[in-house]
Amino acid sequence: MFLLSFFTRIFHYLPSELSHFLALNGLKVAYSTGLLKILTKSSDGKTKKISKDSKNLSLNNFKNYKNKLGIAAGLDKDGEYIDCLAALGVGFIEVGTVTPVKQAGNPKPRLFRNRKDKSLLNRLGFNNKGVESLVENLKKRNSTIPIGVSIGKNFDTPNEHAYQDYLFCMEKVYQYSNYIAINISSPNTTELRELSNKEFLKDLILKIKEKQNLLSKSFNYVPIFIKISPDETKQELEEICNCIIDCQIDGIISSNTTINHADKNGYGGLSGLPLRDKATEKLIFIKNIVGNRIPIIASGGVMSASDYLDKINAGADLVQVYTGFIFEGPKLIKDILKNELI
Ligand SMILES: Cc1cc2nc3c(=O)[nH]c(=O)nc-3n(C[C@H](O)[C@H](O)[C@H](O)COP(=O)(O)O)c2cc1C
Repeated sequence: MFLLSFFTRIFHYLPSELSHFLALNGLKVAYSTGLLKILTKSSDGKTKKISKDSKNLSLNNFKNYKNKLGIAAGLDKDGEYIDCLAALGVGFIEVGTVTPVKQAGNPKPRLFRNRKDKSLLNRLGFNNKGVESLVENLKKRNSTIPIGVSIGKNFDTPNEHAYQDYLFCMEKVYQYSNYIAINISSPNTTELRELSNKEFLKDLILKIKEKQNLLSKSFNYVPIFIKISPDETKQELEEICNCIIDCQIDGIISSNTTINHADKNGYGGLSGLPLRDKATEKLIFIKNIVGNRIPIIASGGVMSASDYLDKINAGADLVQVYTGFIFEGPKLIKDILKNELI
């Protein structure tokens, strides 16, 4: 673990996007050579088999998870690192966000690390290799831990036709996912967040629900989660949550990155420590509305084991890490899991 922490710190001195790429590929090499097992002495993600035919991710089914800690969307956009991330001991991984057609995302530089604030600013813009490529990687994976797949729309699909992109991706990933996350909250695809407005949301959700009902006749029931922005007002959150409940969507992921910041690197979504308290506040608000009717996956600013516990105490059923993992490396996962009782 010491060696992994050492490399995590070394990578901090490289440009952000390059260092993420090198770190993930280093992890992959360490996994395939067996070195990772020696370095972490952790489980290989296969110790407890997750039943793929569970009816849904109800609160009870979460109990089948090896633990409540997961990797958030965006770290492994194309599902290329599932086995090595699973080897770190997490209970689940959310891959994506993928879009129907491969796209390059926004011009570089588009990812910035602020070591003093322990934050990341990103304006990647759904760079991904397309949903078909992700599906190939899902088929190849060895790990049996639950996989959520985050789906989105291509940058040039107008919002009026966005549902077609979501339905297309759903159909492709459905039978290979343990849950599907509908990303309508990334700030880096122009007007994407407008999909959570009343004007679009109900229509989009109903179409997604209809597709889920249809697909679940041929395959197992795969729960749908909606990922929410932390920048919604309380009134907007109330409307979104009520719509989610009314339309029988299975769960909520709260939250994505925030655009309310004054980061010196300009526009984009901010994550990490500065997001932590805001995300927890929104989590508590959402929990008060939905109660135990649907599960909530918490995301936003989990930088330590105590941040993780705060999310659980605030009502989260599962918790995800991203920026904390970038800053602390595999040690963060080890620290959190050390104290976890499920
Ligand atoms: C570089 C980067 C890329 C991200 N890409 C995605 C993405 O593709 N889809 C998504 O739903 N969230 C994405 N996120 C948001 C994370 O999943 C997470 O919700 C957010 O960063 C807050 O958690 P954190 O503070 O632990 O990082 C991304 C975050 C970062 C930092």
